Amino acid sequence: MIWLFVQFASTILLAVVSGIAALCASRICLAKTMGKMHSRLRSSFIWIGIGALVLLVKLAATVLLAATAGWIFVEDKAVMQLPMLVIPAAAVLWCSIPAAKAIRSGIRAAAAGAPKEPPSLQDRLTAAAPRWVFPLKLCFIGALLSVIQQFFIAEWPLPIGKVLAIWAVFAAAACLLWRGIRRRHRRLADNGSPKWGILAARLYRRAGVSLVIALVLAVWFMLGAQSSRVPDRLSMAGEEHGHPHGHVHEAAAGSPSASVAELTGPQSGTPNRSFVLEAKKTPVTLPSGEKKEAWTFNGQLPGPELRVKQGDLVEVTLINKDIDAGVTIHWHGIDVPNAEDGVAGLTQDAVMPGQRHVYRFVADQAGTYWYHSHQQSSRQVRMGLYGVIIVEPAEAPEQPAVDLAVMLHEWPTENGTTVTLGSLDRLQRAKAKPGTPVRLRFVNAENLPASLYISGVPFQVAAIDGADLHEPGDLTDARLELAAGGRYDVTFVMPETAVGVALCGGPFEPDESALVISPTDEGLPPEAAADSVFDPASYGTPGEAKFGPDTRYDRHYTLVFDNRLGFYNGKFNFVQTINGRVFPDAPMFMVREGELVKMTFVNRGFEDHPMHLHGHHIQVLSRNGKPVTGSPWIADTLNVAPGEWYEVAFKADNPGIWMDHCHNLDHAAVGMSAHVAYEGYYSPYEIGSGTVNLPE
Ligand code: C2O
Ligand code: CU
Repeated sequence: MIWLFVQFASTILLAVVSGIAALCASRICLAKTMGKMHSRLRSSFIWIGIGALVLLVKLAATVLLAATAGWIFVEDKAVMQLPMLVIPAAAVLWCSIPAAKAIRSGIRAAAAGAPKEPPSLQDRLTAAAPRWVFPLKLCFIGALLSVIQQFFIAEWPLPIGKVLAIWAVFAAAACLLWRGIRRRHRRLADNGSPKWGILAARLYRRAGVSLVIALVLAVWFMLGAQSSRVPDRLSMAGEEHGHPHGHVHEAAAGSPSASVAELTGPQSGTPNRSFVLEAKKTPVTLPSGEKKEAWTFNGQLPGPELRVKQGDLVEVTLINKDIDAGVTIHWHGIDVPNAEDGVAGLTQDAVMPGQRHVYRFVADQAGTYWYHSHQQSSRQVRMGLYGVIIVEPAEAPEQPAVDLAVMLHEWPTENGTTVTLGSLDRLQRAKAKPGTPVRLRFVNAENLPASLYISGVPFQVAAIDGADLHEPGDLTDARLELAAGGRYDVTFVMPETAVGVALCGGPFEPDESALVISPTDEGLPPEAAADSVFDPASYGTPGEAKFGPDTRYDRHYTLVFDNRLGFYNGKFNFVQTINGRVFPDAPMFMVREGELVKMTFVNRGFEDHPMHLHGHHIQVLSRNGKPVTGSPWIADTLNVAPGEWYEVAFKADNPGIWMDHCHNLDHAAVGMSAHVAYEGYYSPYEIGSGTVNLPE
């Protein structure tokens, strides 16, 4: 969203330009000659003009954003910044400009005759007139405070206390400034011309002020770092963390009585499928010859593909051989009972080297899912602790001849990372007979949305995040944008010629990470020409859905995503925030079993946020105010791009305490993680440096 950026950039530019303009303006009176005075006045005007232009651009961007995206996208900036920018700008217009005219007429007359003459005291006094300098300097202060607001305050709803505080700082700065300028003007009148003694005194005063500011900042820094530190032991769902949102919570007095540890899958019964996954350090060699240490399940990268049938009782034994920090397994997208969810410090303790943990659940949703460690997840997923889990439908109408799971994953190399399609970093092939059905299950295990180019065949997106779409139509030359953590199932009937999947357009090369499916193991697909982007909001046809336009919701929560500078766990960072906060201050969304919950996601930051709610599937109702018109769109990981807003809904039908976080795991690792908590439940597990648990 271009206007978000323009709005942001123009604020910074305004501070720079108004700073230069103020400097120019205040230095006119110090000029040695009338000619110099004249030229300084001219450059002041040029900078004032540029500043006015930038301010207009900023105002336009703000208005456009509010009109097209919504007030919520600009609320904080508009309310806090505009008074500090518009009032001084108006003062420039009413005071500085007329004052400048007086300066100019004086200078002109003198400069025309004798440009080399030193200015008279009267000329200097006119040029130092508070009426002229004060509004310009005030512009700079307003712009500077606006920049500070932009970098440090991202709260929603609007933090009234902070609004008043920033205005108070502005007003105080204005008073000090006015006094300073007046005093300077009087001194000039008394002394004739600025003397070294006066300049030195000013220098000392400025040094003093800077020192005080530096001290205040240092104290703020230390206090901020200290208070952001996650305590040694912290219950993720305890009273001491989070800000419970919702009114019923306050009413439901008494402490929660049920432990999430009790919310297990069936403890008895013989599993239909059982697996053992051993997490261990594994040296792997990519086909390109590159050698790396990976952390794998069973020595495989990605981990073994788990295939089960819908309705199966699944048992997975996790063994940690030698992953020092401990491991868990989260079943991403499968709405398992809470205690089987695999979040370290919330639903279990991390499984340390030599330990094991058994997960049991009934796989009652067919579809494509994945599993990954939810201990140190940003690091461990990158290192390889993930794999795909496929739940085949109980009665498959037609088993595809080729049914292939393809994971997209970022792989560390000496020079950064490469993204691979599947486990290989080069072209791989699969065979399919012409006329047979093919199903490709794409899983994005990366942190960023991935583009997929499919060429050589018309195809359908049959399912999103494991949920089938209603009457998916044929797509040709459409690029798929797959959310981080999300899944698309693509189906087609195998043609006579080769079909290709690549991460970028362009011809298929043997050393490119791409997938080619052909009848004979030979031939290359045509270059992908993906001019349009697949849009799930208008794909397929409307079908039966849980939520419609008439649904009445029991709760409505708004999550505003933004970015700012700040602390996470004692470290200063560029943090990604939910309603301006990071864990453990991030909101706790309270629900009661059986309630219908609506959530509004608003992204007014600059990065994509693939939001993932554990334990539930959400139905996407609308994007940017436009209702979904195609098939019901059910997801567990929804990418919210900068400038976008979504309305989604879910039924609170899976009790426990659930993570609701950004699946750009690097964002989660700096605090972009909130929780949905059912009333009456607590977690006996804890996180913090006094425990082994590091969920992110
Ligand atoms: Cu796939 Cu909480 O994560
Ligand atoms: Cu994010």
